[in-house]
Amino acid sequence: MAKQRVLTGITTTGTPHLGNYVGALRPAVTASRDESVDSFYFLADYHALIKCQEPEKVRQSTLEIAATWLALGLDTDRVVFYRQSDVPEITQLTWVLTCVAAKGLMNRAHAYKAAVQANEEAGEDPDFAVTMGLFSYPVLMAADILMFNAHKVPVGRDQIQHIEMARDIAARFNHLYGETFVLPEAVIEDQVALLQGTDGRKMSKSYNNTIPLFLPEKQLKKAINKIKTNLLEPGEPKDPDDSTVFQVWAAFADDAETARMRREFENGIAWGEAKKQLFELVNSELAEARERYEALLADPAHVESVLLQGAERAREYSAPLMQKVREAVGIGPLR
Ligand code: TRP
Repeated sequence: MAKQRVLTGITTTGTPHLGNYVGALRPAVTASRDESVDSFYFLADYHALIKCQEPEKVRQSTLEIAATWLALGLDTDRVVFYRQSDVPEITQLTWVLTCVAAKGLMNRAHAYKAAVQANEEAGEDPDFAVTMGLFSYPVLMAADILMFNAHKVPVGRDQIQHIEMARDIAARFNHLYGETFVLPEAVIEDQVALLQGTDGRKMSKSYNNTIPLFLPEKQLKKAINKIKTNLLEPGEPKDPDDSTVFQVWAAFADDAETARMRREFENGIAWGEAKKQLFELVNSELAEARERYEALLADPAHVESVLLQGAERAREYSAPLMQKVREAVGIGPLR
């Protein structure tokens, strides 16, 4: 049997944060060392245009996210690491899939529904400011995944629906045109797939409550100090399960250290002390990678060359499959 393929992408908007790290980057880098799988990692820069129409920000974020993967130790000799826009077959496949994806399926996408609901609550037209990019986002994502016949897609919980849609679209294509695509499955890190942000809601670029992954040490300390807590005094027992500080702790600590902190909470650890320990824990895990990250940011030409080499390898997969897809749907040379 051919090796399992694992694929994951990160949209190039914003700066990677601890939630991305815990939910996606860290498990992905660990998985990339697994010899029994073939891994694909990419920068979803076309996805970025859905949310961000500021070219400089897209560019900067692409550099930052590429540097992040490399700094975290992604082994680019073993895994295929590329930028979505360097693989033209992905957008070609997107169109073909757009022509088999049911509009009704897209109507049910969470991101679209949330936009419509927000509009309705604001008394706007339901589709106010909704672009076709936002609406058909799951089709582009399906193309990312199906283009490499990925079996497994590690994602945060909020992305499960998109993987299901990719399966749906793949099944429909296969049904119409014959077996072409693998049906992908989502893989969720059970423990801490969704990290809370500094305000206690899910850590997300859109809530402005993130802690950037490679903040300089002093700023990391500051950011951790800003995590919202209640007003319980030192000595008063605190509920770990209701605390972002504890939740972030659990995402970085091993089981024994997590159990210890749980007891400290029950014994009334002061918020300041808990945060100090949290900073030390997070900082020790990230400090070395942060140095590599800073060096990479200072050398974009190196990052670029790594990406271009990756795209060449990616196209060894995507070009033949796209050829097969074209033939399957009746596009190609006349014979
Ligand atoms: N939509 C994903 C996110 O916002 C990023 C993404 C794009 C992705 N294409 C993908 C993730 C393909 C996994 C597979 O997090």
